[in-house]
Amino acid sequence: MTSFSNSSDSSIRDSFGSKLGIIAAAAGSAVGLGNIWRFPYVVGENGGGAFLLIYIGFVLLIGVPVMLAEFTIGRKAQLNAFGAFRKLAPKSLWFLIGVMGIIAAFTILSFYSTVSGWTLQYLLEASKTGFVGSTNESLQTDFNSFMANGWLPVFWQLLFMGLTAFVVYSGVKNGIEKYTKFLMPLLLIIIIVLGINSLLLPGGAKGLEFLFKPDFSKITMSVVLEALGQAFFSLSIGMGVLITYGSYIQKSDNLSNTAISVSLTDTLIAILAGVAIFPAVFAFNVNPGEGPGLVFITLPLVFEQMTGGYFFAILFFLLLAIAALTSTISVLEVVVAYLVEEKKMTRLKATIISASSISLVGVICTLSLGPLKNELILFGMSFFDLMDYVSANILLPFGGFLIVVFAGWVLGRNQLHNEISNNGVLKASLFNFFLFVVKYLAPIAIALVFINQLNLFDAL
Ligand code: PHE
Repeated sequence: MTSFSNSSDSSIRDSFGSKLGIIAAAAGSAVGLGNIWRFPYVVGENGGGAFLLIYIGFVLLIGVPVMLAEFTIGRKAQLNAFGAFRKLAPKSLWFLIGVMGIIAAFTILSFYSTVSGWTLQYLLEASKTGFVGSTNESLQTDFNSFMANGWLPVFWQLLFMGLTAFVVYSGVKNGIEKYTKFLMPLLLIIIIVLGINSLLLPGGAKGLEFLFKPDFSKITMSVVLEALGQAFFSLSIGMGVLITYGSYIQKSDNLSNTAISVSLTDTLIAILAGVAIFPAVFAFNVNPGEGPGLVFITLPLVFEQMTGGYFFAILFFLLLAIAALTSTISVLEVVVAYLVEEKKMTRLKATIISASSISLVGVICTLSLGPLKNELILFGMSFFDLMDYVSANILLPFGGFLIVVFAGWVLGRNQLHNEISNNGVLKASLFNFFLFVVKYLAPIAIALVFINQLNLFDAL
């Protein structure tokens, strides 16, 4: 199949033009705030090395097969996450997975764009002052007053959504592929530089020990399940992003290799983020279990004390912004592809409508941490926390569960094998293992994480 770049003609489907393009785009989606902002603090809160080991196990055993299932569904159907189920299982309710994916796009992007906006503010702050003269207290106060301000974070958030919309509007090949192919290698270089710098810090070895030395006494059921949840969020699985991207992968490409490369890249970057952060955290005596503030409050303190900190602070927040952008575009694309293919909108109209309606929810998220802090408490959480909770703890695991059940039990052995082996052209050597995972292992594991995150175990 040839690739087309003419996104304005809806009768011709846009697609990725090269293998590297697919990997850059899919890895771009996977690598994001989940790796650099969330992963290190979740590792920090869950005891370090033992968590990492379980996390890697889940990525390999469950993450790769689930990702492959998504690519397979998307490429087979050649449609968006909603249309794919309509086509592969007509006259059934499976299309509801697509509906959930669109809802998940709204919930994820609303809070994700808030944090993405922060990265721009911190990038500006880093280049203006390099955090010189800051203390732990002043950084905490700065962070709080920035959020309390309300309109400044909203400004950055809208700017970020504008950037996202611009890339998505430009199309799959001339937008998503073009930018991620350039941004992802840049991100890799930046994080390697930061990692090396961190490794050279005196006293940093303790950080490596924390990250890599497993202490099995720290493993509890909830740590195990936390690792599975982090793997889902980090790999971008469970909401149709990779079904949508899968539909742009050419028929001659190797889906299994793509799923493996993307998952390994995502894991490598999460580990590199840990290597960049923990040695520095230990070298400067800050608490590794700091939580969500690790990146925005703790790290500026580390940069403030570090030789060349000005340079590294700018690099780091640039890295964070890039990682976030290549993820936000993938989420927006789920909605845009749906509107273009199912509602027959032009790409421009679809992008404007989806980006602006998501931004509306996003602004509420941002304000819920500032001016509306006391007004907008739902289920005991801020609107921001609620969106985070609903997407990561409910929509993704539930969507992931349905996707593997669909692949294993509805598509079944023959259809899966045909698509994965490119109709018998490729060998698909681990196919039987893959089938076992999507039919049994993954649904059971996901059901467990889901039950745990809803605290149903406690209720038993
Ligand atoms: N994987 C992204 C990250 O780690 C977040 C994401 C989740 C993106 C789900 C798309 C879908 O930041």
